[in-house]
Amino acid sequence: MTQGTSELTVGEMLLKYGISRRSFIKFCTATASAMALPPWMGPAMAEQLRNSPRPSVVYLSFQECTGCAESLTRSFAPTIENLIFNTISLDYNDTLMAAAGEAAESARTKAMQDNFGKYVLVVDGSVPTGAGGAYCAAGGRSAVDILREAAKGAAAIVCVGTCASFGGIPFADPNPTTAWPVSGIISDKPIINVSGCPPMPEVITGTLLQFISTGQVPDLDEHRRPKVFFGNTIHDRCYRRPFYDQGKFAKSFDDEGARNGWCLYELGCKGPTTYNACATIKWNGGTSFPIQSGHGCIGCSEPGFWDKGSFYSALSTAAWGKAGEVAPRQVGKLAAGAAAVGVALGVASAGVSRLRQRPSEPHGNEPKGG
Ligand code: SF4
Ligand code: SF4
Ligand code: F3S
Repeated sequence: MTQGTSELTVGEMLLKYGISRRSFIKFCTATASAMALPPWMGPAMAEQLRNSPRPSVVYLSFQECTGCAESLTRSFAPTIENLIFNTISLDYNDTLMAAAGEAAESARTKAMQDNFGKYVLVVDGSVPTGAGGAYCAAGGRSAVDILREAAKGAAAIVCVGTCASFGGIPFADPNPTTAWPVSGIISDKPIINVSGCPPMPEVITGTLLQFISTGQVPDLDEHRRPKVFFGNTIHDRCYRRPFYDQGKFAKSFDDEGARNGWCLYELGCKGPTTYNACATIKWNGGTSFPIQSGHGCIGCSEPGFWDKGSFYSALSTAAWGKAGEVAPRQVGKLAAGAAAVGVALGVASAGVSRLRQRPSEPHGNEPKGG
């Protein structure tokens, strides 16, 4: 990781890390493709970034499990995403940086002063406000104070993971630390939520690259997630979808249906109400994703996923949709006619959009204004 401000461009830094122009264009093209951008956008993004000064990124970790940072750095192999993330000037990250104590705190202060108004603030973890902020502190200061200070000079805040985006597991009932998502503390800055527990590394880097290369906050959904990555449900893109449409459901994890790769809806899959890119980008360099590994989606990129009932209970008809919408078993019956299936998919999709809710209020004290 690089500390301090540098005058080098992104291109010069990539060269320093031994990343060729060709590899960088390939990476940007893949990122553009994952974002459903036109093919010419990849090379254009690469060129724009190569000639730009390195943007400063201050990365704060609060009440978290380090899964988000682990997802990003992926220890199994050095990846271009990892190198690029480090290359685009990670000025402060208390998990990854070599410095500690006062040196680390000075690095953060210097990065914020030198780049006031311009740096991207990345946050993972929720922000506990109970016990005067004592549940999470660094350098004698509470997470909530550190966040407020860092937010002041940020151009935008990118929340990495469901904890920072929606409160995540610390926010779950009974929320013993009175944890809040970043948006519960800061209200006067653009906030981009990259949810997931953890989020996909390609989605993190894609969101950062998009913001850094254009200076614009991307189109966001009602939960402030970039639509390019969170515009579809897992169910919309799931390779098991034809079985769902035919009404073929595994009843247990080791029955014939499971062995045949049938739909996991009745085993609790939350894919129909979960917006994320796992079914298309997949994990570990495109190797697989939970459903491909034989387990239903648990809805980890959605607000309040931990408190929505058992991961192994099928979505209720009430959760699935309202009167007049098509429940899964009915879809199976309708599947005989292609036209009928088309109607069912449209109706189901409309039902899913109505299910997207804001996180419920946390349990405990109100945070002070941002
Ligand atoms: Fe850990 Fe999940 Fe929270 Fe990330 S979102 S810090 S992986 S619990
Ligand atoms: Fe895939 Fe789950 Fe939808 Fe079945 S219910 S098609 S396993 S996302
Ligand atoms: Fe999470 Fe579901 Fe993807 S559990 S990792 S959003 S398939």
